[in-house]
Amino acid sequence: MKKEISVTAKQAEFINSDADETFFGGAAGGGKSCAQVIDALFFSVRYPGSRQLILRRTFPELERSIVPLTKRFFPKSAAKYISSKHLWQFKNGSAIELGYLESDGDTSRYQSAEYDVIRFDELTHFTESQYLYMLSRLRGANGYPKRVKSTGNPGGVGHEFVKRRFIDKGEYRKNGRKFKFIQSFVSDNDFLMRSDPNYLKRLSELPEKERRRLLEGDWSFFDGAYFSEFKTAVHVIKPFSVKNMTLFRSLDYGLDMTACLWWAVDKGGNMYIYRELYQSGLTLSDAARLIVEATPYDERIEYTVASPDLWNRRQESGVSGVEIMNGAGLTGLIAADNGRVRGLRLLRELLKHSEGAPPRLRFFEGCCRNLVRCLPLLTHSSRDPEDVSGTPHEITHAPEALRYGAMSRPTFFERKSEPSRERSFGDPFERKNEECTPTYEYLFE
Ligand SMILES: Nc1ncnc2c1ncn2[C@@H]1O[C@H](COP(=O)(O)OP(=O)(O)O)[C@@H](O)[C@H]1O
Ligand SMILES: [Mg+2]
Repeated sequence: MKKEISVTAKQAEFINSDADETFFGGAAGGGKSCAQVIDALFFSVRYPGSRQLILRRTFPELERSIVPLTKRFFPKSAAKYISSKHLWQFKNGSAIELGYLESDGDTSRYQSAEYDVIRFDELTHFTESQYLYMLSRLRGANGYPKRVKSTGNPGGVGHEFVKRRFIDKGEYRKNGRKFKFIQSFVSDNDFLMRSDPNYLKRLSELPEKERRRLLEGDWSFFDGAYFSEFKTAVHVIKPFSVKNMTLFRSLDYGLDMTACLWWAVDKGGNMYIYRELYQSGLTLSDAARLIVEATPYDERIEYTVASPDLWNRRQESGVSGVEIMNGAGLTGLIAADNGRVRGLRLLRELLKHSEGAPPRLRFFEGCCRNLVRCLPLLTHSSRDPEDVSGTPHEITHAPEALRYGAMSRPTFFERKSEPSRERSFGDPFERKNEECTPTYEYLFE
């Protein structure tokens, strides 16, 4: 029996995607969950004996959303639902399992499973480790395509990794695998626009943050952002020459991630981050060497402010991190004022802006990508709302370096009121590089 299902243009793009990992994400109501279910049906019919898994984070969500959608779209003539197993069994031997991954331990349920396609609905509700674990369940010798297809809205625990894996990159290839992001807008969904014309109106009446997230499918920020004043359009600016400005660096060293920022301060006390180094797995001496190498010889760096723990002596060797870095050529290190909340308050002050009053701290476009990516993702700590949350740990390194740098300029506010008495910097150093030298980019996935 032939059965027709119409889909929107975006749903068709999702269904036709041949990428190894596809993410269809953005506004609520864009037809994403329907796309998952319809695509799963098409795949089952096309590839007899295939096996797929559709996941939601929790069981009640699965029962409320995916189960009824499959019942709505799957023709009874082709498949039957075995509710005790949450399994759709197709006459051609294909199967679609409906599952959930509430806690990390739930992955063990899928330990010995094999799937041709794994589908995450509301991917931003999952953690990156859950996602990566499930990728390993994608296998089988039947010759069918092996894919991960996901859908979701901005916000949630997985927001950061989904943004990093898909949204920030669009369509790309890595290690021979293809990734694709399809942005969802609610206006794409003609079905909903026709059946519930007031839906848009209801969404547009939500508070601003919720509206940007759900109606506009905006990934640039989400609920609970610590630096809610951060706006890419305001804080990220076209690079210009930092000649004659005061230059310094700030450093958060760690074996898991080293983040170093290059700062320029103009005569009015405005600050710019014009370069970054962001790399994992560096020894102290490698980090020192890379920082020196990334700095053109004619750039006069006044000092490098670093986390105070670098001054601790190692028990085994009796040598401190600073001594090792000095030995590798990075000199002029000073210990940062590590008052967390004070530092964060100062950063907020520097990022603050209003109509006609630009922020005091801005970032050169394309020169500090990791910092600009991580800063808006910081959330409030649940222990102390004035502090930032330490998770996910990965996003904290570049902002830590930023805090150390800000705290190294205690005279910042005085400087602003007395610009004329600024001394001039860099005079004896004739610069060759008029333009900002682009940052060193270190991808770390
Ligand atoms: N291809 C389709 N055919 C019929 N109705 C659809 C289709 N796609 C979406 N819809 C309608 O739009 C509504 C919202 O779609 P849904 O997939 O739940 O959106 P999202 O998951 O993006 O929030 C669905 O409940 C359904 O009524
Ligand atoms: Mg949905």
